Amino acid sequence: MDFSNFGTKDMGIDIGSSKLRVTFEDKGIVLEEPTLIVVNKKTGQIIATGMKAQNIMEQNPITLKAVHPMQNGQIIDIDYAEIFMRDMIKKVYKEFNTGRPRIFANVATDINEVQQKALENALYQMGAKEIFLIDAPIAAAVGCGLRADKPIGNMIIDIGAGKTEAAVVSMGEVVVSDTTDVAGNAIDEDIIQYLKDNLSLSINKETAEELKIELGGAESLIEEKVLEVTGRNVETGLPYTIPVSSKDIEKATKKAMQEITNTILSVISNTPPELVSDIMQNGIYITGGGAHTNTIDNFIAQKTGVKTYIAENPEHCIARGIDKIINNTGDYSRMMEARRRRKLL
Ligand SMILES: Nc1ncnc2c1ncn2[C@@H]1O[C@H](COP(=O)(O)OP(=O)(O)OP(=O)(O)O)[C@@H](O)[C@H]1O
Ligand SMILES: [Mg+2]
Repeated sequence: MDFSNFGTKDMGIDIGSSKLRVTFEDKGIVLEEPTLIVVNKKTGQIIATGMKAQNIMEQNPITLKAVHPMQNGQIIDIDYAEIFMRDMIKKVYKEFNTGRPRIFANVATDINEVQQKALENALYQMGAKEIFLIDAPIAAAVGCGLRADKPIGNMIIDIGAGKTEAAVVSMGEVVVSDTTDVAGNAIDEDIIQYLKDNLSLSINKETAEELKIELGGAESLIEEKVLEVTGRNVETGLPYTIPVSSKDIEKATKKAMQEITNTILSVISNTPPELVSDIMQNGIYITGGGAHTNTIDNFIAQKTGVKTYIAENPEHCIARGIDKIINNTGDYSRMMEARRRRKLL
């Protein structure tokens, strides 16, 4: 199979539950916008997409609702997903004045056939000339600077907004993987629930995410932090301001951290011994926005006994990996071909 490219340009796409990232041949990441659409609640009319949609939703408009077309790494609404992607990609087409590109997109290891078809359809709708799917852990490994095409084992954990995916990759293939829907969004929900149940404080998702970022950690912070948080008292319904501490957030997120750990441990326990010894030597790499979680590297190292590294700009790792694969298609062509063959089987 020949992956060389005649005339057209190559585009890379990482459609996350929270962000869409687009790369363009020789240019790196050229677009990053929230995977979000704002819709009129009554008429269903689409008001805005991406960053514009996020800015509108920040004003809390009561007549509009936010639609997240991707959740837990899957397209949950194909019509909205197509509209969203077309709108975003139009910007890239316009800026780079490109014809129909070949599109390289990452897919979660647990994607089913229906989901994969839906994704391919959405990409063709956007004007793709040809589509190449890349397993997300392979893209993440390449984005971390690892040679995922070599006969050594590497372990990658991507903690995104909708999904945590743990995998061991070797020779361009995902050897073992496991996923859980416990990731950034679920952790925000746990914080909302905990504060409601234990402090009678009701907050929105944005505040929960802020608390996670400011006060959260995979293990107890050495120095406890406290923030004054305003929300609504669940009993009286009135505005309510109380201190929330890093200890509260630790308690709220403990179960999620345990679930992420269990996902990682299940992958290690299913990994062939010769690759386990590679991983002991090479370590575990964490990617995705969740890699910014305070003390997560120590925590995972302690739970697994394997040294753990946080990727540089972890949320960009998958897009960066796709970009590297696009720009070195020669090096990775065997890997891409294997993915395609598996799909045909
Ligand atoms: N400092 C931080 N601490 C903890 N979580 C963080 C931090 N910074 C960002 N996050 C979380 O990272 C998540 C976004 O990560 P990312 O951009 O990798 O997700 P995504 O690719 O859109 O989603 P997915 O891959 O799951 O579909 C959000 O839930 C966000 O709250
Ligand atoms: Mg992601």
